[in-house]
Amino acid sequence: MDDFDEKYYLILKLAECHKLTLGEYEKLIVNRDAETTKRLRDFANAFRNRIYGNKIFIRGLIEISSYCKNDCLYCGLRRSNSNCQRYRLNRDEILNCADEGYKLGFRTFVLQGGEDNFFTDEVIGDIVYKIKTRYSDCAVTLSLGERSYESYKYLRECGADRYLLRHETASKPHYKKLHPREMSFENRMKCLNNLRELGYAVGCGFMVGSPFQTAKDLARDLKFIERFKPDMCGIGPFIPHRDTPFRDCMAGTLELTCYLLSIIRLIYPPVLLPATTALGTISKTGREQGILSGANVVMPNLSPVGVRKKYELYDNKICTGEEAAQCINCLSNRIKSIGYKIFTHRGDIIKK
Ligand code: 5AD
Ligand code: FES
Repeated sequence: MDDFDEKYYLILKLAECHKLTLGEYEKLIVNRDAETTKRLRDFANAFRNRIYGNKIFIRGLIEISSYCKNDCLYCGLRRSNSNCQRYRLNRDEILNCADEGYKLGFRTFVLQGGEDNFFTDEVIGDIVYKIKTRYSDCAVTLSLGERSYESYKYLRECGADRYLLRHETASKPHYKKLHPREMSFENRMKCLNNLRELGYAVGCGFMVGSPFQTAKDLARDLKFIERFKPDMCGIGPFIPHRDTPFRDCMAGTLELTCYLLSIIRLIYPPVLLPATTALGTISKTGREQGILSGANVVMPNLSPVGVRKKYELYDNKICTGEEAAQCINCLSNRIKSIGYKIFTHRGDIIKK
């Protein structure tokens, strides 16, 4: 088979079997062109529509702390960044965000933050418990990095439903290039397995175009997703932050991110796939294009307006325009204009 035929064969195989070999994923990435992109996108939309119809799920994102004890080389919140403006929300501020979100129609709240020792199990557990008792029709998602098994267990008992922890890269040597010595790939994977064992709906994910990333590394990410079958998968382009060692690195592209969204939809059709803020940051229509490539979730920002700029993972993060939760009507119109519709229930994964 020449290259030309082979890529079409790979797309059909993926749509049929939902898996490829590592080498085949790599080929699909390296040999991509306008035609493969379109074919994958059409399949991805068909699979997504069959399970979720034209419904797009929304999550209210509350960024609870910009303190972080980690030092990931790519991240603007890394502890070595002395220019980062640090803040943390207190319990009442977080609960107020949830109250406001509930009024706006959100039924999932994502509490996301750096790894901040202030947020002990007791503090987070209390907040989770309060949101869950106040709003029994809502899901609470946590995104607070690596914690112990006991911590994840306790928070689950307090009512947390879901946990997002991007694996960042499924290649160990690549992981080492993105993280300081004290962080380990093994612990990341262990956390993901612990979360699953504890009954959370689990989200993993990675950055597209992160420094040193090769097509083979991306193929490993896809293989990992194929095996792990995450309930959610957050992928967005890497975007450099001026106060990190990767300041001069190139950003990931909208094109490759959308291409991978389509592939991931085919690997695991029920997966919840957000069109991320990073995608909306590199292109004005990034999130719409993400949806048109197979995504089915958007996560508007519900944080207090005053702190949004401070939660700066990368340069120029959008946060006060139409991606804000307060602009849910503008977002709703944009989604309508591409043929989809915001759905304001919890939005759990639908496994067939
Ligand atoms: N560009 C894009 N995404 C980033 N993240 C952290 N820094 C960056 C960056 N510079 C992502 C990581 C992390 C999530 C909170 O944000 O994947 O898991
Ligand atoms: Fe690790 Fe921010 S310091 S993602």
